[in-house]
Amino acid sequence: MPRALVTGASAGLGAQYAEQLARSGYDLILVARGEDRLQALAGTLTGRFGGRCDVLPADLSTPEGLALVEGRVASDDEPVDLLVNNAGFGTKGEFLASPVESEQQMLDVNVTALMRLCHAALPGMVRRGTGGVINVASVAAFLPSDTGPGYAASKAYVVAFTDSLAVTLQGTGVHVSVVCPGFVRTEFHERIEQDVSWIPRWAWLKAPEVVATSLRDHRAGRHRSVPSVKYKSVVQVLRVVPRAALRRVLVKSRALQHRPD
Ligand SMILES: NC(=O)c1ccc[n+]([C@@H]2O[C@H](COP(=O)([O-])OP(=O)(O)OC[C@H]3O[C@@H](n4cnc5c(N)ncnc54)[C@H](OP(=O)(O)O)[C@@H]3O)[C@@H](O)[C@H]2O)c1
Repeated sequence: MPRALVTGASAGLGAQYAEQLARSGYDLILVARGEDRLQALAGTLTGRFGGRCDVLPADLSTPEGLALVEGRVASDDEPVDLLVNNAGFGTKGEFLASPVESEQQMLDVNVTALMRLCHAALPGMVRRGTGGVINVASVAAFLPSDTGPGYAASKAYVVAFTDSLAVTLQGTGVHVSVVCPGFVRTEFHERIEQDVSWIPRWAWLKAPEVVATSLRDHRAGRHRSVPSVKYKSVVQVLRVVPRAALRRVLVKSRALQHRPD
């Protein structure tokens, strides 16, 4: 049986990756901080699909937690065939008011852990001539952000890093892809107490569809996956609109929001 390690598997997109991979015959290693939720999910998936499901509780923002998961993905005993770097989060409120420790912790998970897990997993995959990595970015990678500049930049790193890795890995038998979802209904926004009331219903994606598209694109050998026609169109438009124009739009919309009544 192939084996996948999914980070951030206790909720949202990560739990969906775990479910869809278990359904398609993968054994799993589930990583997140919340051990109880991982154990509950592992029990459910084993009951439903019959494969093996191990849990590896770890805080990827700490050197110890990260080292534990690096060791697991680098191991040649029971090797990991697919690494899903999904764990990630945003920070609460505006950058200038956000504690610098929170900004750093976000970079530790969204960027450093993702890069180090690729660095740990890929040499073994290349030696074996097979394997894959899916890195979870966001449509936010393609936009300046007035509220979450650190988050948008962390996701831009994930896109740029994966694009370049794809070149490095050409011809090795190892495939890397990056997925760029728009708004998805998960715990993401609740965790950072983000007001989502202004987001229209049509703009929301469902986690099962995002993950199904990402896995389909990965299996088809595509390097970049943007789930849904609407967000594909958004990304196409963002490719041709100058960054300066996007900044001007944001500045105007902020001025409108902060206009005295
Ligand atoms: N939801 C969206 O609108 C959206 C859009 C674009 C991209 N994304 C990206 O999608 C990915 C998954 O997010 P989601 O929407 O599924 O959010 P979510 O429902 O909040 O799930 C986040 C997962 O990451 C884990 N996690 C958080 N901090 C961690 C840490 N320090 N160490 C280990 N695991 C940690 C959480 O588990 P524990 O708390 O138990 O550790 C949880 O399993 C993220 O990379 C996010 O940036 C989300």
